[in-house]
Parts: sequence; C-alpha cells; structure tokens
Amino acid sequence: MPNDSLTVTDNRTGKQYEVPISDGTVRAIDFRQIRVDDDDFGLMTYDPAFTNTASCRSAITFIDGDKGILEYRGYPIEQVAEHSTYLETAYLLLFGELPTATQLSEWVHNITYHTMVHENTKKFVDGFNYDSHPMGMLVGTVAALSTYYKDGKDVDDPASRELQTWRLIAKMPTIAAYAYRRTRGLPIIYPDNDLSFPANFCSMLWRQVAEKDYKPDPVLERAIDVLFILHADHEQNCSTNAMRAVGSSRPDPFSATAAACAALYGPLHGGANEEVLRMLDHIGDIKNIPDFIKRVKAGEGRLMGFGHRVYKNYDPRAKIIKRTAYEVFDLVGRNPMLDIALELEKIALEDEYFISRKLYPNVDFYSGIIYQALGFPVEMFPVLFAIPRTAGWVAQWREMITDSEQKIARPRQIYSGNRGREYVPVSER
Ligand code: SDX
Repeated sequence: MPNDSLTVTDNRTGKQYEVPISDGTVRAIDFRQIRVDDDDFGLMTYDPAFTNTASCRSAITFIDGDKGILEYRGYPIEQVAEHSTYLETAYLLLFGELPTATQLSEWVHNITYHTMVHENTKKFVDGFNYDSHPMGMLVGTVAALSTYYKDGKDVDDPASRELQTWRLIAKMPTIAAYAYRRTRGLPIIYPDNDLSFPANFCSMLWRQVAEKDYKPDPVLERAIDVLFILHADHEQNCSTNAMRAVGSSRPDPFSATAAACAALYGPLHGGANEEVLRMLDHIGDIKNIPDFIKRVKAGEGRLMGFGHRVYKNYDPRAKIIKRTAYEVFDLVGRNPMLDIALELEKIALEDEYFISRKLYPNVDFYSGIIYQALGFPVEMFPVLFAIPRTAGWVAQWREMITDSEQKIARPRQIYSGNRGREYVPVSER
C-alpha cells in the first residue's frame, strides 16, 4: 500500500513536495510551503462555495450522496424515522447515543418545561406587520432571545450550553406558532405542557382560544414528528455552515441560530419547499408539465425540490416523506398538487437533462405538499424546516465549540481589484 501522501512537483521551480493524506483529505495549509521565492506567500486552495472542501470533523451525520445513504450517529434514517420521535432524535444527535428510558424522560421534561418564551416576546412579534413572512419574524425573534438569556454568552460553560440547548429546541415551535397566529390575526396560544412536542405545536397553531382539551389527530401528530425527524440534521449544509461560522467567533448560540435561520430562508435551501408549491401552482395542470420542463432545460428557472449538492441519487428523506404523504392524505384528503408532483417527477427522471446532471427529488420536493394538506400556508414551510433543524444546528455548534482543531472562521481570497492608487479630490474626478 503506497504511503498516504501526495508527491507534488511545482513545475515553476522543479521542486518536489510531500503532502500527507489523512481521512481522504489533504490539509490546505500544507500547500503554503510551495512558493517560487521568499517573497511568495505560498499556494492557497481555491474552492468557491466549498464544493470540495471539508471544514470540520464531525461524528453527527453521515451522508453517502452516490448511494443515497443518510445516518444520524450511525443509525439509518429509515430506522430512526420509523421507530424514533423528534425529541429522542434530537437527544441522539446531541449526545451521540440513543437515550435510556430515564435519560429520555429527563430530556423530554427539560424541553417541555422550557417551551414558554418571555412575555415581552408577544410585543416583539406584534411589532411585525400582519403580512410579514414568518421566516423573517423567526429570524428576528430568535435573535432577540439573546437579549433575554445573557448567560448564553458563557459558551465555554457546559452547564450554560446545556441550558441554552433546552431553550433553543423548546422555544422554536413556540416562536413559530406565535408568528403563524400573528399572520392570522389570532391571539397566541400558550404552550400546553401536558402534550407531546408535536401535539403542543399543533395546539399552539390551531387550538381555539376557548378550547379546553385539545388533541390533534394521532396521524397528523405522528406525521409532523416524522417530518421533524427527517429535517433534524444534514451534516455541513448551508445553514449549518452559517451556525458554525458565526458560532466560531463565540457569540451566544441564539445569535448563531438566527444566522442559521437566515441561511435556511433562502430559496435554494430551506426556502425551496415553499418554492416547490409555488412552482406546482404555477404549472397548474399535468398538461402544462412538458412546456415547463422545456423552459427549465432552456435555463429559464429551476425545477425546485430537485437536485442536491451531495445527493447524486434519490434523497432518502424524499422517499419517506412521499410515503408519509399518503398517510396524511388518507386522513385529510388528497392534495391535487400531488398528481402534478408525481407526473413531474416521472417525466424529469426519464429526461436526459436531469439524468445527466443527477438531479433527483430532494427533501423539499414532497414536504410542502404534506404541509399544505395539513393546512399550513406556503410561507410557513421554511419555518417548519427550521424548528427541527435547530437540534442539528445546536449539535453541530456544540461539536464546533469543543473541537480543539477549530478557531474563528476566516477564509482567504484571491484579490482581483486595483492596487496602489492615488486618491483624487472630488473636484478633479
Ligand atoms: C436543501 O445541503 C443540504 O444538505 C441541504 C438540505 C438540508 O437538509 O440541509 O438537503 C436541504 O437545501 C435541499 C435543496 C433544496 N433546494 C432546491 O430544491 C432548489 C433547487 N435545487 C438547486 O438549486 C440545486 O440543485 C442545489 C442548490 C440544491 C444544489 O446546487 P449545486 O450543487 O450548486 O449545483 P449547481 O447549481 O452547480 O447545478 C449543477 C447543474 C447546473 O447545470 P449546468 O450549469 O451544469 O448546465 O445542475 C443544474 C444547474 O443548472 N441544476 C438544476 C437544478 N439543480 C441544479 N437544473 C434544474 N433544476 C434544478 N433544481
């Protein structure tokens, strides 16, 4: 077996260099030694959008994009989605092991009793216009949590990290529900600690003000829990990268989570589920699909919910969500958008344009159809992504904070601007 290294010849100087290989990577800093003379800064690596750059070591989520494999702490997503709950999955992502019955009971208690938010949060949410996008409300309100929990700054204190972990996971659905009720002109519903995590979320969304004993249909409660499990983490995606990068300068985790929410908001990331429904609504009828596909292939827009930076095969989450959709539709009635989505998927998967680019349905392609059938407006879809992804963001943040190899994230650049210019007074420009 050849030794784990590259031998690099710099053809500018004829010099050779040995660059060690470890974990399937070479360290970018090992290329700095390659220079043409003493004034030369040395070679850097250039990787816009980090298409081939590992930014960290992580033991949380494993993805094999070619095989369509996703594992949380080594457990296949199919098994976790079938047997676990979102809170148990959050525990697994955060602590690396499935909890014992006692650990799970304590964990659920700690989350349940941190679902309330400061009473001032109502005034904060009321300050948004009624037609504000709930994701914009979420970003702002999550950031505001840092002003209530000043102990969040103690990022090096394990006890503080634990308390902020409970607060973030527990309060995201509360803030999301407050935002939803604000857009509907409805009074907020406080958390009900007698309900499960998903059931409490449904209660804060849909409970009538005077309704005493609220219980969602068990099928809906389980569907929401499964969707939360599937969205809980996904290794170094855009919003997790934001959580780690912002977290690396060591602000409180509420500020870092607000940054992660902002990254998720984008239509190429967590905002895609909202765009999928707008796309299906725009297509309107199966007969319009061929013309739509033709326009996508002509570069006039994207097939939203298709494609993935890592998956070059079917996103395993999409398969599970598709199956869950049928269970929800059996209860609430079939969403007509499903027929368009199914035909769109069928045509796209037979078309060379998508096959050659290895574009398959991702997690966002079917999730929006379920959310719409559950009664959510499209603007809420990214918020429904952010709630469970908080467990992944916080798990990744904790891993980064305690990783001795990590420090403040500060990439380099290739400078392409002017140099050494003389200032010109405005009268002479
Ligand atoms: C999520 O990273 C994660 O893990 C994210 C996520 C998570 O759980 O955190 O999985 C969640 O964000 C899922 C992705 C949701 N986004 C969408 O569905 C939006 C539509 N998809 C794309 O915009 C795109 O596929 C991305 C953003 C998901 C990935 O983009 P890449 O890896 O940067 O790929 P690219 O833009 O360089 O595209 C490669 C080629 C291009 O064609 P050419 O220039 O080579 O001719 O594929 C084409 C693109 O035009 N392409 C698409 C397409 N996606 C890529 N063409 C049509 N429709 C699409 N959806």
